[in-house]
Amino acid sequence: MSKKFLYSLMAALVLTAIVLTACGAPATQAPAATEAPAATEAPAATEAPAATEAPAAKEQVEVFSWWTGGGEAAGLEAMIKVFNAEYPDIEFINAAVAGGAGTNARAVLATRLQAGEPPDSWQGHAGQELIGTYVAGGQIEPLNALYEEEGWLDVMPETLIPLISDSGNIYSVPVNIHRANVLWYNPTILKENNIEVPTTMEEWFAAMDKLTAAGVTPLALGEQWTQMHLLETVLLGSLGAEAYNGLWDGTTDWSGPEVKAALDNYAKILNYTNSDAASLSWQDAAQLVVNGDAAFNVMGDWAEGYFRELGKVPMTDYGWAPVPGSVGVFQFLSDSFTLAVNAPHPEGAKAWLKIAGSKAGQEAFNPVKGSICARTDCDKTLFGEYLQSAMDDWASNVVVGSLTHGVVANDSWKSEIDTALGLFIADKNVETFQAALAAACASSGPCK
Ligand code: GAL
Repeated sequence: MSKKFLYSLMAALVLTAIVLTACGAPATQAPAATEAPAATEAPAATEAPAATEAPAAKEQVEVFSWWTGGGEAAGLEAMIKVFNAEYPDIEFINAAVAGGAGTNARAVLATRLQAGEPPDSWQGHAGQELIGTYVAGGQIEPLNALYEEEGWLDVMPETLIPLISDSGNIYSVPVNIHRANVLWYNPTILKENNIEVPTTMEEWFAAMDKLTAAGVTPLALGEQWTQMHLLETVLLGSLGAEAYNGLWDGTTDWSGPEVKAALDNYAKILNYTNSDAASLSWQDAAQLVVNGDAAFNVMGDWAEGYFRELGKVPMTDYGWAPVPGSVGVFQFLSDSFTLAVNAPHPEGAKAWLKIAGSKAGQEAFNPVKGSICARTDCDKTLFGEYLQSAMDDWASNVVVGSLTHGVVANDSWKSEIDTALGLFIADKNVETFQAALAAACASSGPCK
C-alpha cells in the first residue's frame, strides 16, 4: 500500500467530521436472557435451585453480519466450523441479516445499538465506517491486549492497522481483503462479438456499443448500493488513483472539470445497463453474466465466491479484469470484527475474534468467500486462480479505498452521497448531481 494512500486516509480520518455520537450504547444494560441469573434473582422454573451459586449457563457468542447467501454464508459457515472445533463449549449464534453490502443489516444493528442490545461482535469495515461510526460512538472496545496475546501485529499488514486504530487503540480484527474494482465478463459473449477485454473507458464504450448493436445487454446492474459501487469504480477509472484519493482528502475539487468528466462517463455507462436494475440483488446482476444474459458486471470479488458456489468455472464461465481505467490500482475494503461495549458474552466474543484473526480461520473463510486473507501468512495454494491473481495485485498495485464499503467516507458523508445518487438515478442530471456531491463534501467531508 503506498504511503501516499495512507497519508490520504489518515488525513481523511482527521478531517472528516465525526458524527453519530447519538448512537452510543448506554452505560447500563439488561442482561441477556441466556446469562446466569444474578444471586438475588429467582431461578427459572426449570433450573435446579442452588442456594449459594447461580446455575452455569452454556457460554455463547452472538455474531452479526450480512453474510446470508451467495458464497458469503458458505464462507462464514467454514469459519464457524473452525470455531466450533476449537470451542465446542461455546454456542455460536449466527445473527446475520440478509441484504448485500449490509444495507438492511446496518439499519438493524443501529437500532440494536441504540436500544443497548448489541450483538457480542459485528462485522464492520476497516476505515471510516469503523472509526467514524463505531469508535466515535463509543460502541466498540479496544483490542490491543488480544493483538499482543495473539501476535497479530506480526502477521497483519502494517498498512491496515492505522485504518482500524484511533489514539493508539486497535478496534477490530480484519478477516480479509476484498477488491472492489473488478470487471467480470462472459468470455464466450466477448469472443462471439470479437471484443477484447477493455482496459480504458474508450475501449469499454466501444465494446458496449458493439454489444448493444448485437442485441446483448452490455452491463448487468443491480439495486442502488451496487450503483454506488459502480460509481466509485468509474470515478477511479476516470480520475486515476491520485485524483480519486483527492476526493476523500479534499485535494480534488468535486466541482471541477475532471469530476464532471468522470460523472459524464458514469451517466453514459448507465445507458448500457438492464432496465430492471433497481429490483435486482448483486447476486441477480452477477448471475446475468455467468448465465450468458449480459456481457459485463462490476462487482467486488465476493462475486467470485458466488460464481464458485454456482459451480461456474473460472476463465470459461467468467473472466475478470480491473475496471477500465484502473489497471494497476487495487480498490480495497476489509471486513473486520469488533467487540461490543457491554457485550453480553465478552469471553465468547474474544474466542470468536481469536478464530477470526487466526490462520486456520482465515484459510477456511477466504477461499470460499472470494477474498484474500488479511493475514500475510496464508497458504496461497488453498486459493483458486482468481484469488491468486488478486494476491499478486494486492502486493504490487497502488492501493486505494472503497466508498461503498466503508473505507474512505464516514456514514454521514456516504449517506449524503447516496441521497444525491438516488436523485441522479431518477433525473439523470449530471450538473445537479455534481453540485450535490460537492455540497456533501462541504457539509460532511473535508471540503470546508
Ligand atoms: C460488502 C462486504 C463484503 C460483501 C459485500 C456484499 O460490504 O464487505 O464482504 O459481503 O458487501 O454483500
